[in-house]
Amino acid sequence: MKKLILIVPILIAVLLACQPANEKKNADISNQEVSESQDMNLTANDLDEAMYAFNDLPYKADALEPFIDAKIMQLHYDKHHKGYYKKFLAAIDGTSANGLSPEQIFANVSNYSAATRNNAGGYYNHWMFWTNLTPESTEMTDKLKAALLEDFGSVDNFKQSFSTAAKSHFGSGWAWLIVLPGNHLAVVSTPNQDNPLMNVVPEQGIPILTIDVWEHAYYLQYENRRAEYVDNFWKIVDWSAVSERYEMALDGYVYNP
Ligand SMILES: [Fe+2]
Repeated sequence: MKKLILIVPILIAVLLACQPANEKKNADISNQEVSESQDMNLTANDLDEAMYAFNDLPYKADALEPFIDAKIMQLHYDKHHKGYYKKFLAAIDGTSANGLSPEQIFANVSNYSAATRNNAGGYYNHWMFWTNLTPESTEMTDKLKAALLEDFGSVDNFKQSFSTAAKSHFGSGWAWLIVLPGNHLAVVSTPNQDNPLMNVVPEQGIPILTIDVWEHAYYLQYENRRAEYVDNFWKIVDWSAVSERYEMALDGYVYNP
């Protein structure tokens, strides 16, 4: 009993001593954040654009000719992709989505507006698409090749499965190679600007390769011959990038622009 009588006053004294210090520390951090924002004269839109990059194409617009011509590339990147980017920033401005990574938005996309879902998808999906293409000759790693063999039987079988998904997808959308929970690979397609990171698709996974099968991606050059566009896609895939994304996905990381 004597011990308890001694300990209680000591605890009260310690708590009283700590509380003002914690409050002061929080106030200092808060003041520092406000001060830094004021110093930099940042507006909400500035913050959006600093946080969500709209990167340059990783090659010249004509670099993928003759498989994707320069006119399509310029329109697709400058008009369509940039349009999604601007509408994405407008959609999240002033909402709880602002400040979250695309991956975080997709994980709870059902909680956000249709404009956020469509334009966040359009912003992210196109960036994945540009950066899994290259004019250079590249090769996949042995590790990715072994995984494709295990899950599809052969690399050719995988390509056929992916091509079929891209060619047969009804209307606008995307075909994907994804890493499932448990690290197996699968081919899926998604409508509109949905992607496999979204919590609204039937099969979620981490995407490592994609093709845009919206008509704006090929119609000016291929007209209604989507199959020819898909067949030519294989001649410009950046297997180094896909292999790198595969390694990231095995560690649970998602590629972000
Ligand atoms: Fe597109």
